[in-house]
Amino acid sequence: MTKERILVTGGTGYIGSHTVVELQNAGYPVVIIDNLSNSNRDVIDGIERITGIRPDFVEGDCTDLPVLAKLFTDYPDIKGIINFAASKAVGESMHKPILYYRNNLNTLLNLLDLMGPNGVKGIVFSSSCTVYGEPDENPVTEKAPIKKATSPYGNTKQISEEIITDVINAGAPFKSVILRYFNPVGAHPSAEIGELPNGVPQNLIPYLTQTAIGIRKELSVFGNDYNTPDGSCIRDYINVVDLAKAHVIAVERMLENKSDKKIEIFNLGTGNGVSVLELIRVFEEATGVKVPHKIVDRRAGDIEKVWADPKFANEVLGWTADSSLADTMRSAWAWQCKLRERGIM
Ligand code: WQD
Repeated sequence: MTKERILVTGGTGYIGSHTVVELQNAGYPVVIIDNLSNSNRDVIDGIERITGIRPDFVEGDCTDLPVLAKLFTDYPDIKGIINFAASKAVGESMHKPILYYRNNLNTLLNLLDLMGPNGVKGIVFSSSCTVYGEPDENPVTEKAPIKKATSPYGNTKQISEEIITDVINAGAPFKSVILRYFNPVGAHPSAEIGELPNGVPQNLIPYLTQTAIGIRKELSVFGNDYNTPDGSCIRDYINVVDLAKAHVIAVERMLENKSDKKIEIFNLGTGNGVSVLELIRVFEEATGVKVPHKIVDRRAGDIEKVWADPKFANEVLGWTADSSLADTMRSAWAWQCKLRERGIM
């Protein structure tokens, strides 16, 4: 039996593109909608080079309801949605709150509006460990309290989860799996797709690899006076391919009606907390490449330490993030080298 078509919004983005690859590997036909505001069409070529299958692609903005409605008319066989389309820079959201609320929330509202009339069975929502703020304890389970968001970006994730819950509890004829990511890092082992931030990277790994290759002079480590073993912040760095695979399991779970619950929430992490300074060391040992770095002041808004308890996802989804951090760092480095080879960066 052929698998049902999945709509991937934001599918030319970092996590979206890796998820499209895994969906295709699992036999799902995919259609991507993306406004290319933070990605480009070359990603489609990269996906095709990996899987041999060119996903359908519609350039469009999910906040534009008529555009999205036409997509469902053109693709009446869409039965599942994975929603990545969102603005995602924490710092930028502090300066552009309206852009973040309008883009992230209107996208979701439009999708939820169109799902019922178009017979869509379920939506996987890309959420974030940001909803936990500074957790009271680590590792963090799905039962940990949701803390007041410290950025409009984080707030859009919290509000989105509440919107999905309210819509489904009001009797919507579809399900949802909410996936709370910890820190996605690395690239596909083929180095055909990876993280490609616009401008100066805000996140640690792209800045680190751009420093290692010489694009950036030095990596600034934001603080070493935290209450952690080496003073630098601790995170749960999860391989992006492992993360992508969890999305395939989640969408399958809904399409094949494997759960009697209409909404399920999972923390997607490795369960290992790693400090910034430890990560630099792992990268240097794994690649043999030095990363010039210096300690600077803390970055406002940074969480001191947060890492997942992934037991619920491990047991219920039968999923584990099992890539080693060393292999993940090697994949990030291989991607950075490929970008240099292609003259892109
Ligand atoms: C990681 C660690 C920094 C850059 C954010 C979002 C989260 C998710 C992932 C979308 C921190 C330190 C960083 C640098 C550094 N995004 N750092 N020097 O802030 O944990 O999470 O991105 O879903 O929602 O909040 O990720 O990569 O920015 O930082 O020392 O140049 O690296 O202080 O401790 P973060 P990050």
